[in-house]
Amino acid sequence: MKLRSLTLRNFRSYAAENFAFHDRVNLIYGENAQGKTNLLEAVHFLLAFRPFRQVRHEELITIGASEARIKGEIESPAGLDEAHIILGGEKRTIKLNGKLVYNASKALGRYNVVAFLPSDIELVKGSPQARRRYLDALIFSLEPAHLAELRKYHRFLVQRNAVLSRGRSVTPESLEIWDEKLIETGSRVISRRMEYAKKMTPLLARIYADSSGSRSEAGLRYATSFAAGDDVESAYAESLKASFAKDRARGHTTVGPHRDNLSFFIDGRDASVYASQGESKNFALALRASEIDLIKATLGKTPVLLLDDVTSELDERRRKFLFGMLGGFPGQIFITTTNPDEVLLKGEMKTFRIRKGRAEPALVKR
Ligand SMILES: Nc1ncnc2c1ncn2[C@@H]1O[C@H](COP(=O)(O)OP(=O)(O)O)[C@@H](O)[C@H]1O
Ligand SMILES: [Mg+2]
Repeated sequence: MKLRSLTLRNFRSYAAENFAFHDRVNLIYGENAQGKTNLLEAVHFLLAFRPFRQVRHEELITIGASEARIKGEIESPAGLDEAHIILGGEKRTIKLNGKLVYNASKALGRYNVVAFLPSDIELVKGSPQARRRYLDALIFSLEPAHLAELRKYHRFLVQRNAVLSRGRSVTPESLEIWDEKLIETGSRVISRRMEYAKKMTPLLARIYADSSGSRSEAGLRYATSFAAGDDVESAYAESLKASFAKDRARGHTTVGPHRDNLSFFIDGRDASVYASQGESKNFALALRASEIDLIKATLGKTPVLLLDDVTSELDERRRKFLFGMLGGFPGQIFITTTNPDEVLLKGEMKTFRIRKGRAEPALVKR
């Protein structure tokens, strides 16, 4: 799939701008704070139906305006789509080919996109919550049903916690109905996370080794908050029962997918604790690159790649690896930089010089 064109209205620093993109490489350059990242953010929102970093929708609307619009033509094997996103306050409206999409989770995964961001290092060094959210978002795009299930799980969790907050009067019987629902939805959430973590492991290990040229081994593991054997459901049920006294004392549920952990490892050591700044950057790069392979392996599709200002972050060897990979990549690429000379891509491409929320396009051959 390819994004052919984009129209922005009152989206962050863009009052009104139109873009016609190249179907291979789009190089977006300019000084700092001109709107390069904002452009990638709009592309990501259009293709993934969600922002690539956690923001309130109203931050995306140009200050002083009441509504932002992102509109684009997307070419896919199924034909040409017109996608349209309207953000008004906290409300998000999606239209596909003129028709309102009532249930956004139906649209998730329609297009595929992988974003390399400077903040990716926080996936490695940040909180378990950030890694869970990362894994879930990746799964949504591959299996949209995961989103609905996760939301259900959280609703049931809130209910169970509400009962627990009543304190000493709570009996195991009063939790039974929520336990059942948590086990049903939670087990499916856990199983999917385990499945994709497992699928990702060999892809990541290979790419990390290729990119670093070292013999260090990268890995990832999904660790449940309880001892799970082969039968996740019954192990989860037992641990909920076993943690009753603790849950009642604390006033909330202490086991389940909301407490599980996706851990990253380099040579068997927990990367969130031991990885250096450089190792964390390499890990994040390999992680994103392995998403491309995961999407290919799962859906047989080639995602659109977004790379925000990543070249300046990398050492010589990683930069070579990255541009080697991008050079052989068959899909569409959007890459931002303050220094176009650092982008080692050859062939025909379109460049966009961004200044104060306006874009100057040019077709170039390098
Ligand atoms: N909601 C908004 N309304 C108006 N301007 C915004 C909004 N959000 C961000 N900006 C502006 O966008 C600019 C940053 O754009 P960004 O794309 O991050 O720049 P860069 O080219 O460095 O990637 C800043 O000047 C910021 O003030
Ligand atoms: Mg930027």
